[in-house]
Amino acid sequence: MIIFNEGKYKSLYAAEQGELEKIAQTVAQDQDFRPVYHLAPPTGLLNDPNGLIFDGEKYHLFYQWYPFDALHGMKHWQHFITQDFQQFSQADLLVPCELYESHGCYSGGAVLIDDNIAVFYTGNTRRPSDNQRVPYQNLAIFSKDGKLLSKRPLIEQAPQGYTEHVRDPKPFLTKDGKIRFICGAQRENLTGTALVFEMDNLAGTPRLLGELTLPAFDNQGVFMWECPDLSQMGDKSLFIWSPQGKAREREQYQNNYHAVYALGNLDDRQFHAEQIAELDQGFDFYAPQTFSGTQTMLFGWVGLPDLTYPTDCYKWHSMLSMPRQLRLQNGKIYQQPIENIYKNLTALQSITVEKEAVIADLDRAYLKFDANAQPFSLKFFNNAQNQHLTLSYDGKLLCLDRSQTEQTDSIQALGEKRYCEIKNLHQVEIFFDRSVAEIFLNNGEKAMTSRFFICTRENQLCTDKPLTLQVGYPKKIEVD
Ligand code: FRU
Repeated sequence: MIIFNEGKYKSLYAAEQGELEKIAQTVAQDQDFRPVYHLAPPTGLLNDPNGLIFDGEKYHLFYQWYPFDALHGMKHWQHFITQDFQQFSQADLLVPCELYESHGCYSGGAVLIDDNIAVFYTGNTRRPSDNQRVPYQNLAIFSKDGKLLSKRPLIEQAPQGYTEHVRDPKPFLTKDGKIRFICGAQRENLTGTALVFEMDNLAGTPRLLGELTLPAFDNQGVFMWECPDLSQMGDKSLFIWSPQGKAREREQYQNNYHAVYALGNLDDRQFHAEQIAELDQGFDFYAPQTFSGTQTMLFGWVGLPDLTYPTDCYKWHSMLSMPRQLRLQNGKIYQQPIENIYKNLTALQSITVEKEAVIADLDRAYLKFDANAQPFSLKFFNNAQNQHLTLSYDGKLLCLDRSQTEQTDSIQALGEKRYCEIKNLHQVEIFFDRSVAEIFLNNGEKAMTSRFFICTRENQLCTDKPLTLQVGYPKKIEVD
């Protein structure tokens, strides 16, 4: 075991006594933005959800974590076990401590084999002689009760024809019992793709089968595919990934990077897509992953690469989305929070707002209303400084406007508004949790997930016409 400790490449094993507790005290100073029912890192930076798996009884959930600061440093896998997504218990982490993961345990996925959890992940390393990045693909075995049993490297470099950007293996079992995993990759001509590897069993050596082909996707400008994910929805295959470099458009693909899905049929390595779309059209949503071994559920990272947030000064950054249930409707993916979130809503009531209303704890409330396919405009959290977030609909386009909230670098670099085209808008659901809003339209036909930052709250809601809202409060999660 090696204890890495070089600048931001510092492992938990190098933490000084009391160091994390001190960082946690800084985190606790944040009175405005820490969520109550979204998973946020205890300290430091969280990014991609990893290794999501249902083991037959419990759900295992890992995420990318740098414990020491709100920046992308040495990545660990934080690990929780839960049965209900309300109560989370800590389990063994993946801590980088071997040469084949010297610069971080990067993203990956999990599959259940022989009653254990086989975790495939990328070992980020840098060659000491010239600092060149070399990606390993590694395997770690966890018991169902969350103990790390072993780990070993499987592949020691990127295959020929690809750059050092080969990462994020997501494993699955084939019908004939072999193990396949798909990695995000960059070709030597700097275009993005995914690679499929196969191994006979866990003791085996992976061989490269080739690229996953997806001709229906317009790959123009795309230089990297991150976090590929494959699952089954009824008789359809669902491929989710995060392409980087796709040109931004006014009303879709509005961020710098995107989370996209293709729904269709996978024939060996050929993906015949019938539908390709963005998963979420908000400001902050990336690298989602589905759970292996259950009805399709998904977590996303409420964040994007390369952004800073106003919480960085409190030494924490980003959170996960709520767990979402995916379903197939009209040949498209619909997503909404899992049943349990709705079941645990408290103090449900109906409130009619003529023009303005003070709603208790609006900053962590769930709101639902029928838009009747008519234009509307809603403002949240109006305060003395007149900071507010606006959600409006013109009969065709929904617009989320952050121009009157605290400015962030993403607002400055990537614009103040996000749009979502939706006809016949009836149901609008908004889950506020301090500095995040997850918005679902028409029972999950479209989703928009965004961070927003408003300092002092008076919990006020303003509307341009009378509106009857269902209001409730999602249950606070508990982490131990
Ligand atoms: C996506 C990503 C992955 C990588 C991980 C590192 O957000 O860049 O491709 O494995 O984050 O934290």
